[in-house]
Amino acid sequence: MFISFEGIDGSGKSTQLSMLRDVLEAEGREVVTIREPGATLLSESIREILLSNKQTITSTAELLLFSSARTQLVEMIIEPALREGKVILCDRYVDSTTAYQGYGRQLNMEDVRSCNNIATRGVMPHVTFFIDVAYEQAQQRMQFTPGSAEPDRMERSGRDFFERVRQGYVEIARMDPKRFVVIDGHRQREEIHEEIVALLANVS
Ligand SMILES: Nc1ncnc2c1ncn2[C@@H]1O[C@H](COP(=O)(O)OP(=O)(O)O)[C@@H](O)[C@H]1O
Ligand SMILES: [Mg+2]
Repeated sequence: MFISFEGIDGSGKSTQLSMLRDVLEAEGREVVTIREPGATLLSESIREILLSNKQTITSTAELLLFSSARTQLVEMIIEPALREGKVILCDRYVDSTTAYQGYGRQLNMEDVRSCNNIATRGVMPHVTFFIDVAYEQAQQRMQFTPGSAEPDRMERSGRDFFERVRQGYVEIARMDPKRFVVIDGHRQREEIHEEIVALLANVS
């Protein structure tokens, strides 16, 4: 079972992922949790480059770097874990590229789609939770995160960018209603968590 979490920065993805992991592990499931980009040595190195504020990265280079990190992750971790019957919880996956590089950076959507096909090797989540939160609220949440560092390169992209990304997610979800579940993220953590657990009970 492969589950991904999507949404703009500060929407509550990592929070929900870790709450769900606890429930699944308590049920005795073997759970692999992954943050994207990351999880393999190469993907974590690429993550550092992508999020660093030290350099300018063109939108196309950004697309290709995210895709490189992803394909390494798919081949080295996701495919083997799926073969072993584990549950994979992914903090972002391919829809992030469609939303951020496609809708956000406004790259050619055909190019984005081709890159995504190469990177995923056709491996797609069974369920994707899109946690939908308005930009202001997400920003506010990030400001109140204890010990939160300076905003990274992606987080500095500004309001217009994040509005496009959010709208992008809404459209992607509409195009793939079988896989996507849109979650109203403006609620209490527990309430959202309970909805996610209830939804999954129907899937598996
Ligand atoms: N439903 C919620 N209501 C209020 N604050 C939340 C909620 N979910 C998460 N948070 C807080 O908002 C901040 C961002 O959440 P996080 O899970 O890190 O988001 P993301 O991984 O999507 O960037 C954290 O400080 C987290 O504790
Ligand atoms: Mg997070």
